[in-house]
Amino acid sequence: MRVLRFSVLGFIAVFAAAQLAPAQQFGNPNNLAPYVPSPQIVVDKMLEMAHLKPGELVYDLGCGDGRIVITAAQKFKARAVGVELSLDIYKSTLARVKRLGLEDKVKILNQDLRRVDLRPADVVTLYLLTGSNELLKPNLGKLKAGARVVSHDFEIRGWNAAQVDTIEVDGVSRTIYVYEMKK
Ligand SMILES: C[S@@+](CC[C@H](N)C(=O)[O-])C[C@H]1O[C@@H](n2cnc3c(N)ncnc32)[C@H](O)[C@@H]1O
Repeated sequence: MRVLRFSVLGFIAVFAAAQLAPAQQFGNPNNLAPYVPSPQIVVDKMLEMAHLKPGELVYDLGCGDGRIVITAAQKFKARAVGVELSLDIYKSTLARVKRLGLEDKVKILNQDLRRVDLRPADVVTLYLLTGSNELLKPNLGKLKAGARVVSHDFEIRGWNAAQVDTIEVDGVSRTIYVYEMKK
């Protein structure tokens, strides 16, 4: 348990340091956050707080192993697009989606999340960094009225959150911010 807690705190330390450092810290200059998966309980809570409905379209920007898009499809009966920069992570996530037989509901794109057209999205999920969220503002600003943006641990500065909730997972506080696009 102590080892687990230490590794979780280690990830958080990396994230905190990344707030102060340029994106180049992660090797690829386009890499906006290290690969650190959200705990499943946080994923469920993010999608619940977004009030995700069957048939709606979710985009997870920086989808990692696809747990958010897979949960959106399996548990919420939504459609989902995961966007992932790393070719290795993309390949294994795509294989996972295929293994689960979810290709008709879940698409995985190997591209830079800053180049994605978000206008069709009903819900956008983020687990990046505050500085990365800042770069996304112009794109997020094009979301349709009624769309929701849900961010794990990192707020969108200057935007008013409609909901904020904190849960404790393995002794670590996790904050979820929900933003609603004006109708
Ligand atoms: C903190 S992880 C979050 C993974 C997943 N969204 C979750 O919550 O479990 C951030 C992910 O974003 C990816 N990423 C970083 N910069 C990116 C970019 N410019 N375009 C697409 N993906 C990116 C990383 O490779 C990593 O998988």
